[in-house]
Amino acid sequence: MKLGLIGYPIQHSLSPWIHKQFMQQIEMTGTYQLYEVEQNQLAEQLSQMKAERINGFNVTVPYKQMIIPYLDELDVHAEQIGAVNTVLQRDNRWIGYNTDGLGYITALKTKYPELFSGDKRVLLLGAGGASRGIFYTLCQEPFEAIDIANRTLDRADELLILNHSNQIKVTTCTYEDAEKSLSQYDLIIQTTSVGMKPNVNSQVISMNNVKRGVVVSDIVYQPFLTSLLDDAKQQGARIHHGHEMLLYQAKLAFQLWSGKQVNAEKIEVAFMEQIK
Ligand code: ATR
Repeated sequence: MKLGLIGYPIQHSLSPWIHKQFMQQIEMTGTYQLYEVEQNQLAEQLSQMKAERINGFNVTVPYKQMIIPYLDELDVHAEQIGAVNTVLQRDNRWIGYNTDGLGYITALKTKYPELFSGDKRVLLLGAGGASRGIFYTLCQEPFEAIDIANRTLDRADELLILNHSNQIKVTTCTYEDAEKSLSQYDLIIQTTSVGMKPNVNSQVISMNNVKRGVVVSDIVYQPFLTSLLDDAKQQGARIHHGHEMLLYQAKLAFQLWSGKQVNAEKIEVAFMEQIK
């Protein structure tokens, strides 16, 4: 099977490592190639990949939205989210999917199933591309309320249209408001790039006054323990690391390409060693 990743910059991507493990699990031979291209080369690169009849590929920053006009079909979830991270080739037609949000929720559910009991309140920090997929998927789960906090409030408001649930109460707020009411949340999800290497000492809000037993999740995976997670841990919170989303979005993408189930938990410990 011919697979790959398109984006810029991607030289340090861990996706080739993950997909190699999945190929081994199902005893499949294949390649996972990095297509690091600048924007002015995107169209040319994609037509080459089409000619090569690549079986599927992942799409990452900055092309998750830009790829859409080059696709023949969009899965309904990718269409609603407005971004694609996985492309599947079928009969030389390209179909775009988004496995980021579902990958994230699948990982969270595996570790903390009790969060999905129907009466939990969620704080979502950030309203960028990553947040969109996560919010869209969160809205399909049984939560009591979701508050979206963002530096630019208008961007948080733009996410509201993705909520197709009649049950979940969704509101937007500033980081200051979120900090003040921190103790009411059972799950806090950090989706901004704040805290990512090399700015490892920054975090969007302080974790003082979190509720006992809260789960604090950060999608940043470099560093492994972000400043926000470290802060939360010291307040007694349970934490959920960012590498999980990366691993589970890859699992779902690989399953689309191969048509076979793979086990992400089996490779998690070895994967964490790749990051640390
Ligand atoms: P991505 O696709 O990775 O989510 P993005 O769409 O640029 O990237 O979104 C980045 C997110 O990080 C946004 O929520 C952004 O806040 P704004 O919408 O206010 O820009 C947030 N972000 C980035 N840098 C930030 C900073 N220094 N302080 C606070 N929030 C920041």
